[in-house]
Amino acid sequence: MTTISIRPACLEDAADLAALHGQSFTPAWDTAAMGGFLRQNAKAMMAVKADQPMGFTLARLAADEAELLSIAVSPQGRGQGLGRALLLGLFVMLKEAKVQKLFLEVASDNKVACHLYEHIGFIRIGMRPKYYANGADALTYSLSLG
Ligand SMILES: CC(C)(COP(=O)(O)OP(=O)(O)OC[C@H]1O[C@@H](n2cnc3c(N)ncnc32)[C@H](O)[C@@H]1OP(=O)(O)O)[C@@H](O)C(=O)NCCC(=O)NCCS
Repeated sequence: MTTISIRPACLEDAADLAALHGQSFTPAWDTAAMGGFLRQNAKAMMAVKADQPMGFTLARLAADEAELLSIAVSPQGRGQGLGRALLLGLFVMLKEAKVQKLFLEVASDNKVACHLYEHIGFIRIGMRPKYYANGADALTYSLSLG
């Protein structure tokens, strides 16, 4: 069995992260856009199986707070605990960076993501009605890391 490793991602991983983003989101962030995020005050984790990128998560830091910008697991890697493992790895990095609070926004109809966030400890703090182009509401969550 090939093990999957979870490790910090860096600027050199921008193309892989962009490809992973493109498997899950439209419009996709291209390598330049992903590199732009990674050059900023950001922390990212990626999951790799036999040199094959399987998933990533990315957060942008501002003082002692951070915003979860994205998380995606490749379709064939989902449902194996990678999303949860990526978030737990990110939390460690954010705590090391003295981040106290992590925020995120998610479409209310994204049931798997909402379940993942709530089960890992995020607390729902708000709702933006019909926020997305398809009419879905946005839910906002926060997690205390301090
Ligand atoms: C959301 C996403 C990152 C979750 O990643 P994942 O690796 O599949 O998630 P995990 O395997 O760690 O599972 C997390 C939880 O969701 C549950 N879950 C996973 N897939 C599920 C499914 N299809 N239906 C119901 N629950 C599911 C798991 O049982 C687990 O719950 P538990 O902690 O109570 O056991 C992944 O589905 C994905 O990439 N989706 C597309 C991109 C996306 O929507 N990102 C979030 C935008 S805000």
